[in-house]
Amino acid sequence: MDIISLRAVSKSYPSADTRLQVLREVDLDVEEGEFAVVAGPSGSGKSTLLNLMGALDHPDSGAVRIDGVDLAGRSDRALANLRNEKLGFVFQSFHLIPVLTAVENVAWPLFLKGVERRRRVARSRELLTRVGLAEHMHRTPGRLSGGQRQRVAIARALACEPKILLADEPTGNLDRKTALEIMDLFASLNRDGRVTFVFSTHDPTVVSYAGRRLSLAEGKVDDEPLGVTRHEDSAHA
Ligand SMILES: Nc1ncnc2c1ncn2[C@@H]1O[C@H](COP(=O)(O)OP(=O)(O)OP(=O)(O)O)[C@@H](O)[C@H]1O
Ligand SMILES: [Mg+2]
Repeated sequence: MDIISLRAVSKSYPSADTRLQVLREVDLDVEEGEFAVVAGPSGSGKSTLLNLMGALDHPDSGAVRIDGVDLAGRSDRALANLRNEKLGFVFQSFHLIPVLTAVENVAWPLFLKGVERRRRVARSRELLTRVGLAEHMHRTPGRLSGGQRQRVAIARALACEPKILLADEPTGNLDRKTALEIMDLFASLNRDGRVTFVFSTHDPTVVSYAGRRLSLAEGKVDDEPLGVTRHEDSAHA
């Protein structure tokens, strides 16, 4: 089943005297359980595409469906509920809450969902441990490195067990060893939990885990299947 579906999706932004056309009538289907990467040069529209898939922005025209739900005409509240129920998002610039500690940041979406305190703290600790941050749980983002913040953002995106994880350059701030560990975590969720992944990336390590590459150029998507070259067994070889 297609869990993400775009039909003739166009998106532009206002620019000096005209509009900048970023996506031009893009058709795209992502099946449940796929692991896709979005590639393309800086400014080609990767974040724009992920924002549309994540119900964070509206297209100028065309239809976006997430898990069978057509997003057109839905209220902001309905879209927020859909995001909270089904989607995890790792932003390019993380968007952590500066006054909350790592463990509180990860627990935040669980709080919004009404999960009781003991359970949200336990889940948050477990995820931070899985991303290698057990020692730094009680620091605020200002006292964490870029790569540590990125891992808090990843843990937060996984907090509510999303069906779809959209991540904008999720390894952009990680060294290779940490990137491999995080990718192994994602691969296990993809394999065992059937979580669908769409990641924007320039990182060949990430691409080596993906089954499909969506390359953006001039507002169009070039769709290319990939032979997966890296699995958990070989990751630390
Ligand atoms: N809110 C906005 N208002 C105006 N222009 C925007 C806005 N967001 C993005 N753009 C422009 O749209 C184009 C696509 O931007 P986008 O952020 O999707 O690119 P990207 O592929 O994610 O780039 P990068 O690799 O640098 O993250 C860029 O030219 C950018 O300047
Ligand atoms: Mg971007």
